[in-house]
Amino acid sequence: MTASQEIIHHTYDVVVVGAGGAGLRAALGMAEQGLKTACVTKVFPTRSHTVAAQGGIAASLSNMGPDHWQWHMYDTVKGSDWLGDTDAMEYLAREAPKAVYELEHYGVPFSRTEEGKIYQRPFGGHTTEFGEGPPVQRTCAAADRTGHAILHTLYGQSLKHNAEFYIEYFATDLLMSEDGECQGVVAWKLDDGTLHVFNAKIVVLATGGYGRAYFSATSAHTCTGDGGGMVARAGLPLQDMEFVQFHPTGIYGAGCLITEGARGEGGYLTNSEGERFMERYAPTYKDLASRDVVSRCMTMEIREGRGVGEKGDHIHLHLNHLPKETLDLRLPGISESARIFAGVDLTKEPIPVLPTVHYNMGGIPTNYWGEVLNPTKKDPDAIVPGLMAVGEAGCASVHGANRLGSNSLIDLVVFGRAAAIRAGKVVDPEASNAPTNQASLDKALGRFDDIRYANGSIPTADLRDEMQQTMQEDAAVFRTDKTLAEGVEKMQAVAGKMSDLKVTDRSLIWNSDLMESLELTNLMPNAMATIVAAEARKESRGAHAHEDYPDRDDKNWRKHSLATVDGAKVTLAYRPVHLDPLTDEDQGGIDMKKIAPKARVY
Ligand code: FUM
Repeated sequence: MTASQEIIHHTYDVVVVGAGGAGLRAALGMAEQGLKTACVTKVFPTRSHTVAAQGGIAASLSNMGPDHWQWHMYDTVKGSDWLGDTDAMEYLAREAPKAVYELEHYGVPFSRTEEGKIYQRPFGGHTTEFGEGPPVQRTCAAADRTGHAILHTLYGQSLKHNAEFYIEYFATDLLMSEDGECQGVVAWKLDDGTLHVFNAKIVVLATGGYGRAYFSATSAHTCTGDGGGMVARAGLPLQDMEFVQFHPTGIYGAGCLITEGARGEGGYLTNSEGERFMERYAPTYKDLASRDVVSRCMTMEIREGRGVGEKGDHIHLHLNHLPKETLDLRLPGISESARIFAGVDLTKEPIPVLPTVHYNMGGIPTNYWGEVLNPTKKDPDAIVPGLMAVGEAGCASVHGANRLGSNSLIDLVVFGRAAAIRAGKVVDPEASNAPTNQASLDKALGRFDDIRYANGSIPTADLRDEMQQTMQEDAAVFRTDKTLAEGVEKMQAVAGKMSDLKVTDRSLIWNSDLMESLELTNLMPNAMATIVAAEARKESRGAHAHEDYPDRDDKNWRKHSLATVDGAKVTLAYRPVHLDPLTDEDQGGIDMKKIAPKARVY
């Protein structure tokens, strides 16, 4: 922007950035309590990436057989490979049924059982009897379009409660006071080029993950870690970024998701010998072992020469044995995806699949109320006043080193709702807003201008490609000291080239060149934090499979990493995992012996 350009000012109690499941659940909860709430979103709300969530949302409703929140909590703790925060995981498992019934009452069109109850399917890593019993049917589904159903319903509810939407506004930076309080955000309106300052008592970052730091991801192209980028620029740390989830069944080549619900409904994986190899690696839960385990087994099969296809570089997923009615009723979306993106009629042939980047366990550190943390040695749980983060952008941390399938949608609504409950307690709607810090605003506007007029030699698309290829190669399913050290070196060089970026289009209206460049400034710190934190973690845990350190090392590494990013420089620190639950056993809480660390086998 030029110095003379007018800035449009807005004042709210709460500004939510992002309109996916977490953002909308937070926004509607805030508005419902009478807080003046804005939701600023770079895409139309119902195009947010939650729309792509297929298989379902986990909650121990017991509609299909016995279940218990404590079993759900146990599975989540084990799934996290003992890196999740115990209080947050208890909160998630306990609140999940309430959150799902709330969605049902809001109008989510869940699939139904014969008796009219919400239909639930099995998903990887979800079990009964604290991992001793058979798989549980815990994942509540609306066919294989559950995210779509939830997102549309939450948008309707947010409008009903008068949350105000700023659609196709790209939030560029946080506004921070001199003493570290968040006071709002700056946003660029994409369709007319105007710049906006949103002054707020609380900013909630619900900006999603950063899957697009990788070359092949199930994530939408909009998943560019915008919240993490803003937080990094504010000098705040990102947590557990080394843990990147590969979903076992991305369509080979295209990368689109084939839901884990496919295996939940009876699908299975085979290698080039036609063998159901998961039976060898995970004799109890087989194809329904947790995602990191299945992805690793698939990768090992390919590496050992048992991949399918001309190049032997992928795996087959079979659904062709399932009754057509099951496919039509429960999996209509992936039947279509398989046809369009793999040219496969899944009633007749297997789908070619490959582990594909799907989810970021790490993100902006928060407590289970969604309040952002800026840990210090004295107080590892110190909060940043005025700033919250929810959904994939945040790290509460309930997923630890590995997330269970269908624990993401429940995370969105449980913690979106928790953030609203907390805001209702800490925000006084009668109080006036603090004026925004001019120095912080000047810095944000200056950065916007610097990128708009960037006149170096590297087009954004080329530099983004370099970043994506490096991350794909060197921060993959399996990692070694060598690949990670090389990856850090390459990524430092890539991040160093940001100062040589070339933006060709200087206009402000629908300028996708500028928009993608701003997104790249967000992807880059997320990618840097990921590879540096991965290089430092000398153990294997969850999605971080380090071949030089194949075992989990609880003594030295049961701790959260914190990465503070400044350009190509990343400074690491650590904070302790929360080991205490919310409630003691004698108050109806979990028996802590049940969730004590042990070997993680499925
Ligand atoms: O496989 C899936 O449907 C994805 C679900 C999830 O990531 O939770």
